[in-house]
Amino acid sequence: MPLLQDRGRWRSGPVARIPRVPEDRLAATWRQADPDRIEAALRASQARNPGGWYVAAPSTQVASGRSVTRIVAGREVVLWRGADGALYAGPGACPHLGALLDGCPVIGHSLRCRWHGLALGPRGAEGWQPYRAADDGVLAWVQLPGDEAATAQPAAPQLRPPLARSVAAVVSMTGRCEPVDVIANRLDPWHGSWFHPYAFSHLRVDDAESTVDRLVVDVTFRLGRTWGVPVRAEFVCPDARSVVMRIVDGEGSGSVVETHATPVGTDERGRALTEVVEATIAFSDRPGFARAQRVAPLLRVGMRRTATRLWRDDLAYAERRYALRATAS
Ligand code: FES
Ligand SMILES: [Fe+2]
Repeated sequence: MPLLQDRGRWRSGPVARIPRVPEDRLAATWRQADPDRIEAALRASQARNPGGWYVAAPSTQVASGRSVTRIVAGREVVLWRGADGALYAGPGACPHLGALLDGCPVIGHSLRCRWHGLALGPRGAEGWQPYRAADDGVLAWVQLPGDEAATAQPAAPQLRPPLARSVAAVVSMTGRCEPVDVIANRLDPWHGSWFHPYAFSHLRVDDAESTVDRLVVDVTFRLGRTWGVPVRAEFVCPDARSVVMRIVDGEGSGSVVETHATPVGTDERGRALTEVVEATIAFSDRPGFARAQRVAPLLRVGMRRTATRLWRDDLAYAERRYALRATAS
């Protein structure tokens, strides 16, 4: 790809020569990161009904032939696939003597409890009612009964690019915080250039385009000290436990990074535990992207590595927010 000069910046395709700004010349963003503004966006996000849907696991973690269990919102949940690959879910304890239904063989559409072989399937059994489950091709969801008005399907996957022309990678991590802390971190984009200088620079929130429900951000994804990929992205919360960043202009337009916060329960000291599952779904209309799809396994490793580093930092932010709240109360 030839180097072209564009508005004083050297570009090669989507990549531009945008040198990283050293710390001593980086403009402070704390004035823009107004706590009241972040709080208002957070309040708006928390009013959005998740419909009882929780991300239980990346789809690939529910293999055929064996059940897996997870703790979701303090409940044991078992997930398995029927003979046709369909995802099913139910309470994680066997209704007979309470065995944990983890690692059970699946025969046809039913799993068999490992203690005494009771068959538990999509039709349920006495004292054991299955939950609704959904596999969106990237994530496995479970719908738990509770206070939230049930909806037909989770909202976040509807914002995705077509999966057949995308490369998806999922990372998950557990933090000592509540889902709201994970969402609050994402609704503060102003920390990007300061807290993640290895990943972002030249970050500017477009105040004219942003509302309490949508933040529009111009940002450069760093490829190193000298080169970067400038894009325009929006952040929206399709439900109270999810934030979706979507590239709306620039390389990879239509690509999304979905961040899902699933409450797990509490640790031995009573502190909240939250599982953060982040799905990066990279999409591009460029002809070269078809080639990229063929090297998808390699690309996934790279995507996972960046997301993991970002999330270590962002989880520390969320945990700090939770710790401050815990000491204040
Ligand atoms: S505990 Fe499951 S069949 Fe007995
Ligand atoms: Fe961050």
